[in-house]
Amino acid sequence: MSAPEDEQPSPAGSPVPDSRPNPSVYSSRVLKYLYTPLIIGFSHRWVWGVPNSELRSLYRTNIGAPHVEVGPGNAHWLRKQSPRQVHLIDITRDPLRVSNARLEKRDWQVFTHQQSATDPWPLEDASVQSVGAGMVLHCLPGENLFDKRPLITQAHRVLKEDGRLFGATVLGEADPAPISRLGKRVRDTYNNSDNVFSNRGDTAEELHQVLESVFGTGRVTVRVLGATALFQALR
Ligand SMILES: C[S@@+](CC[C@H](N)C(=O)[O-])C[C@H]1O[C@@H](n2cnc3c(N)ncnc32)[C@H](O)[C@@H]1O
Repeated sequence: MSAPEDEQPSPAGSPVPDSRPNPSVYSSRVLKYLYTPLIIGFSHRWVWGVPNSELRSLYRTNIGAPHVEVGPGNAHWLRKQSPRQVHLIDITRDPLRVSNARLEKRDWQVFTHQQSATDPWPLEDASVQSVGAGMVLHCLPGENLFDKRPLITQAHRVLKEDGRLFGATVLGEADPAPISRLGKRVRDTYNNSDNVFSNRGDTAEELHQVLESVFGTGRVTVRVLGATALFQALR
């Protein structure tokens, strides 16, 4: 199956705003000292209702080499894995710096690319075994998941046959998944803040549709856990 075009208009038809770096939220200091205890340790479980054991096993099950990590944050999950060659793609500089330093310390060969994951990736077609996109889709601007499709078409393009795209994302208020009162408050606050979340319209059903529109029918799994969706797609 050939890779579909990136430039598909969203069903809503309105232009998608460009992504922008967020150096204050994703600063080196935050990533080194606060991100793991606050976001991974606390928010995953108590705000979004997703067990970290599921995220860890998503990486363990799907990662191969070479690997592409989109929006690596502080490389918390990645650095526990064994593949040794990785391309990191992030629109903000510090996630690339922090992740690069952590992975190089463990003898990974790292290539960094500072750009939006929705722009074309500087990688050859069919050149990597896996692409991870953990907790990134909910950050991308758009009214719905169709607006975030360019990330998925790029992943499809660079994956080898039998390679895997996998990841997780927080669902928006348009999804019926139950969410705690705290989760709803945090999600509303992030969506009302500049350049933090943009996931009001994101649903698990639409995530499945978008992934299948790129990877093909029967090649996609989407599981809802708490207010998140965990996904895998086979090239
Ligand atoms: C919530 S963090 C997730 C970090 C990590 N993947 C994890 O699961 O802990 C979101 C990451 O996506 C990056 N990001 C946000 N928008 C992006 C875009 N348009 N293109 C590439 N990276 C982006 C952020 O800089 C940050 O590193």
